[in-house]
Amino acid sequence: MICERGNKLNPKFESLKINGRCSLQGEIKISGAKNSALVLLAASLLTKDKVYLANVPDISDIRKMKNILKSIGVKIDDNDREQMIINAENLYFGNIPHNLVNELRASFFCIGPLLSKLGHASLALPGGCNIGKRSIEEHIKGLQELGATIEEKDGFVNAKINNNRKRLKGKHIRLGCPSVGATETLVMAAVLAEGKTIISNAAREPEIQDLCEMLNKMGAKIRQAGTSKIYIEGVNYLNGCSHEVIPDRIEAGTFLIASAATLSCITISPVIPAHLNSLLQKLKESGSEIIIKNNSITIKTKKVRGVNIETAPFPGFPTDLQAPFTALMLKATGKSIIKETIFENRMNHIDLLKKMGASIRSENNIAIVSGVKKLSGRKLKGSDLRSTAAIIIAALTADNPSLVEGLEHLDRGYENFECKLKKLGADIKRDLTVNISNNSCKDDFLINDVQDIYAA
Ligand code: EPU
Repeated sequence: MICERGNKLNPKFESLKINGRCSLQGEIKISGAKNSALVLLAASLLTKDKVYLANVPDISDIRKMKNILKSIGVKIDDNDREQMIINAENLYFGNIPHNLVNELRASFFCIGPLLSKLGHASLALPGGCNIGKRSIEEHIKGLQELGATIEEKDGFVNAKINNNRKRLKGKHIRLGCPSVGATETLVMAAVLAEGKTIISNAAREPEIQDLCEMLNKMGAKIRQAGTSKIYIEGVNYLNGCSHEVIPDRIEAGTFLIASAATLSCITISPVIPAHLNSLLQKLKESGSEIIIKNNSITIKTKKVRGVNIETAPFPGFPTDLQAPFTALMLKATGKSIIKETIFENRMNHIDLLKKMGASIRSENNIAIVSGVKKLSGRKLKGSDLRSTAAIIIAALTADNPSLVEGLEHLDRGYENFECKLKKLGADIKRDLTVNISNNSCKDDFLINDVQDIYAA
């Protein structure tokens, strides 16, 4: 159903040429959730049996995670496009290369399963990233409460279980903040621990429910995932299973927002509408009509009104959709206030959108957006995954063509993004940036240059 990119080149040297004033229509398929698939791959280390995972998205973060697992002895068979087979029978202790961990924070998910299966683990400390410092103190404190000894040395986290049985011990852990990653790490560490674990102030994101559902299929005893208090009764071993990754609510949300921003009508499926409640509420408030039928959502938009959003842990408005929603608000009548509360540095798109003519005042993670009649296409470079999606949405609505770089970020989390947009009618094309290299360093690269490139 979905067109795919042919030869995959290095996205650092590619850009998207986007003609503005676009209108979208039709249907697209939503891929499996990046943030579920990443943690489910780590959870597959918890059994010696095979795990069959369906609906794993073909994105660069997943390719990196596969390389990380292969570096510690895991066999992965993904010849069948429909399902990936993960076999961690010969898992061994090894230092996962620093560069692999640096490129993918989610690699730290492996610490819980490695500790439980091997009794020790050593992982490079994941650094900060473009959106914030992203501490892992809650992961570490929780693992220590379960009985692990942990030291940080020379940029590595070295963890081991000191008791003779090489088994973690269940405990009541209260998280200092409802961290998604820490909840997932501790769930994976506790399923094979001795006795009961309770995680209070747990994150409630759907990806955590997906993880617990897969672990329960493997024989774990987890109750009340999806609430802020998760109960886990440790078991002696886990078996293999088949599991299908849930649809990506953030990809779904990004397409709904793109449709609203271009005053279009599209249908997306499969989705789990309940995972998108807070976004759907805001889209309705801002003037879109939303029709939900089973696992599909149709959105029709004729006008966009300014609405305020404040990001919050699930079920609140997702931080991952803050940048795309800001791009939508550029087209609104009236003002909107956008407040980011989860990450300290997740407003990198604001300056980029301003270059297109957006009227935005921002301070301390609050942006006040006044809708404008006209956005000008530009050459722009996204600096993280969701900011790149946001500028693509703005480019679709601009009055002239744009050239968007930073596709190495986009490709981390969106499967065939521009192909799906093209299928909906967007005039968008991926190309080598090589023909504009002379212009790359110019700040004043403007619309005439883009038009020249189109003409070339
Ligand atoms: N935090 C702490 N201490 C900790 C852990 C987290 O202070 O020990 C802080 C972080 O610094 C951050 C906030 O809590 O400011 C939220 O962090 P969290 O741990 O919840 O996020 P994460 O697990 O690192 C996951 C997703 C992110 C998504 C966030 C929030 C994965 C692989 N990543 O990150 O996804 O934004 O939850 O929902 O699941 C994305 O897909 O674009 C993305 C960044």
